[in-house]
Amino acid sequence: MTLRVAVIGSGPAGIYTAEALVKQAQEDVQVDVIERLPTPYGLVRYGVAPDHTSIKSIANYLRRVLELPEVRFLGGVTLGEHLSVEDLLGSYDAVVYATGAMVDRKLGIPGEDLPGSVAATDFVNWYCGHPDVSASMFTLDSPEVAVIGVGNVAVDVVRVLAKTAEELSSTDVPHDVLERLGESQVKAIHMIGRRGPEHAKFTLKELRELGELANADVCVREDEAVVLGGDFPRQIRGNIDVLQSWAGRNPVGRPRRLDVRFWLRPVEILGTDRVEGLRLERTRLSEEGRVVGTGEFETIPVGMVLRSVGYQSVPLPGVPFDERSMTVPNEAGRIREREYVAGWLKRGPTGVIGTNKSDAAETVRTLLSDLAGHDRLRSAPIDAVLRERGVRPVTYDEWLAIEAAEGALAKSLGRGERVKLAGLEAMLRACRP
Ligand SMILES: Cc1cc2nc3c(=O)[nH]c(=O)nc-3n(C[C@H](O)[C@H](O)[C@H](O)COP(=O)(O)OP(=O)(O)OC[C@H]3O[C@@H](n4cnc5c(N)ncnc54)[C@H](O)[C@@H]3O)c2cc1C
Ligand SMILES: NC(=O)c1ccc[n+]([C@@H]2O[C@H](COP(=O)([O-])OP(=O)(O)OC[C@H]3O[C@@H](n4cnc5c(N)ncnc54)[C@H](OP(=O)(O)O)[C@@H]3O)[C@@H](O)[C@H]2O)c1
Repeated sequence: MTLRVAVIGSGPAGIYTAEALVKQAQEDVQVDVIERLPTPYGLVRYGVAPDHTSIKSIANYLRRVLELPEVRFLGGVTLGEHLSVEDLLGSYDAVVYATGAMVDRKLGIPGEDLPGSVAATDFVNWYCGHPDVSASMFTLDSPEVAVIGVGNVAVDVVRVLAKTAEELSSTDVPHDVLERLGESQVKAIHMIGRRGPEHAKFTLKELRELGELANADVCVREDEAVVLGGDFPRQIRGNIDVLQSWAGRNPVGRPRRLDVRFWLRPVEILGTDRVEGLRLERTRLSEEGRVVGTGEFETIPVGMVLRSVGYQSVPLPGVPFDERSMTVPNEAGRIREREYVAGWLKRGPTGVIGTNKSDAAETVRTLLSDLAGHDRLRSAPIDAVLRERGVRPVTYDEWLAIEAAEGALAKSLGRGERVKLAGLEAMLRACRP
């Protein structure tokens, strides 16, 4: 009998899970990768920055997994909307949830709901052409923008804001988004960390890239670059050295300016009808190592505040969820009988793409050891359930048709290898003409 497994989510975690199932299983296995979008690869497609083409090429590896004879892609099918946990457990021997962490975290300060105060999640979705966000969502009409947070997502957002449309033209950014980037009025970008350079979460390679921007001067204040103590791990030492080398550097007159700031926390977003400023308080660490305010304030005249303070998972209907850690409670990937979890939904929103590979392998080891020697289910495949509900999944071949249409669009526009189609309708038209 064949072992049938459903993997929910086709991001790196879901696809590495499918691969590990095929590799590790000692018996015949059939894996359905069920994805709410018509397109696979999760944040590799809708998160990784468009100008990071070498990282995006991980999709070529993930593609080979979806092309394995034991693996099937079912796009446009949402757990919680088209299918329930009961449906899945009725059709598969086991289910692995790998739905990632799709929503933003809030700052919890006054003014956060003003127009112009936005989540990096939305901004990233916008420039990546995610179908949940329309191209008209952002108009970059403010000369000054603040980006809160000093992680790698903040660095991506800052880089996209700092680059010209010409610099991004060869990427897969949707064309109407590229046009809006071309009309950007942004002159000054403030990237704001609530602790010091030694606590920043960005990685050295990503930080260095900011220093290579052709269209923006990067500035760090000398007093904010000071770091006490000297015994830091290599990555952190590298960050400190780069930041200190920028400190006090004079702008050379590039069209945009990036100020990387430290020891400031946002306390209020100012404005009546929309964002008009950001009030910051200088910080220090308390004896217990907590960030505390010093009572010294400054206001910057920004018209847009982008919070890039981390992602979080959302509960799946019928699946246990810990509201404190915002993850699914599990033991080495096991949630309960026949239900498992992998990726950001399992461990929280940290780690690079590769981290999900070993994480998925752990979940699959647990699953296969739990199911060894158990009877296999003989019920009808999920296809009948979906048919009955009028749901027609997007097949892998249909996804390839979307990909081909993106290639054709890029060619017709004289842009790079591919330009993303904007919106679900355009994607469905491309694959079901
Ligand atoms: C903006 C950003 C940029 C990043 N850039 C890099 C980078 O350059 N390099 C790097 O190594 N790492 C990067 N990362 C980290 C990397 O993307 C993650 O480690 C990885 O994507 C997590 O994988 P995942 O499969 O758990 O989640 P995801 O990649 O989010 O995949 C989850 C999938 O589940 C689907 N889904 C959600 N809900 C449902 C549902 N109810 N039913 C069906 N399907 C559903 C989603 O549509 C999605 O396709 C970045 C992260 C972010 C946020
Ligand atoms: N190129 C790449 O490899 C790449 C690109 C993008 C993302 N990723 C990965 O994806 C993961 C998620 O990245 P991320 O940038 O979203 O998260 P992150 O690395 O956790 O960074 C979040 C940032 O937000 C700050 N922050 C949190 N709450 C705050 C608050 N209330 N006020 C002010 N600042 C606050 C954090 O500061 P504190 O440290 O003080 O909490 C930190 O600087 C990371 O593992 C990252 O490496 C990788």
